[in-house]
Amino acid sequence: MTEPDFGNVQPVDVLNLKSLEKRAEAVIGRGEFGYIVEAADDGYTKWRNMNAFKDVHMLPRVLQNVENPDQSTTFLGEKLSSPLLTAPIAGNSLAHPSGELGLAKGAKEAGIMMAQSTFASKTIAETAQVSAGAPYMFQLYMPKDWGYCQYLLDEARQANARAIILTADSTLGGYREMDIMNHYHLKGKIANLAGYNTGESGAGAGSLFKESMQKLNLGLIEKLANYAQLPIIIKGIQTPEDADAAIKAGAAGIYVSNHGGRQLDGAPGSIECLPAIAKVVDHRVPVIFDGGVQRGTHVLKALALGADLVGVGRPFSYGLALGGWQGVKSVADHLKMEIYIAMQLTGCQTIEDVKKMQCTTSFEI
Ligand code: LAC
Repeated sequence: MTEPDFGNVQPVDVLNLKSLEKRAEAVIGRGEFGYIVEAADDGYTKWRNMNAFKDVHMLPRVLQNVENPDQSTTFLGEKLSSPLLTAPIAGNSLAHPSGELGLAKGAKEAGIMMAQSTFASKTIAETAQVSAGAPYMFQLYMPKDWGYCQYLLDEARQANARAIILTADSTLGGYREMDIMNHYHLKGKIANLAGYNTGESGAGAGSLFKESMQKLNLGLIEKLANYAQLPIIIKGIQTPEDADAAIKAGAAGIYVSNHGGRQLDGAPGSIECLPAIAKVVDHRVPVIFDGGVQRGTHVLKALALGADLVGVGRPFSYGLALGGWQGVKSVADHLKMEIYIAMQLTGCQTIEDVKKMQCTTSFEI
């Protein structure tokens, strides 16, 4: 087997995750950058994702005999160096030619979980060549063609996916003005169509997904679980009611997310939704969280409010843009360094301690 082409790679000097956006903008094409950075409508929910962390306060403990805190954890039986996930993002080749190969390699080297999008710019099989032996999950957009869905699930199982993440919040795309201004469309950037003859190859994935994506329902969870024989995690949960219903319908995990504010604008910040959902989930299944995470303290806050695994999206795209797989690793390493400091300063020796940490919030739980 030949070594995949990872393109130009270099470590990235990270001051903080926030500062990566501007640096990446300088190296990514205008349409591509717009697609990655944008949110729906007025971008309120995306703004809220990042800013609502300010309304969560950690209550640090002292004299806890903490030294060299250990942030390793396990998720669905996978050992991770840190409770971090590369949140599924479409078309990673928009950021760097290595696309999901670079993302997978960076995540593997960093020892964190990777999730690959259905709308990836490398196929599942191509990505699996890199992610083999590393913690990996596959994000599913429900195709209207069941045969195509089976093909994706077969490929994901072949690739040793630990779980299938069914995205439930995108029964159509949010209204995103940057793509309109830039005349930008993801069409032609999605590799997972290769290898399955849909009779529509080349037409873009949009036509494959449109219809049934508008008709997602709870019954789908069992259908997917039965076929895939893998845990089904539901992504895009924003209410306790939906979390409870999904678990009762067979969901093996709840993924709290508002899609980086790219879908419904006007929803609360993702972190604001987390406590009430975690309460109703009550440890029946694991909880993944994403939305606006840019600091180690944000990771601690999410864990303390009920998450088991924390997804980071755009910052990894920017790391990928700036340094290929090494850039992805640089972003993970930086975040781990901030988590380490935050654990020490809150008196947490382990991730279990972080989960027990008391927080106050100024929003309803
Ligand atoms: C997006 C979809 C493709 O947010 O996940 O662009």
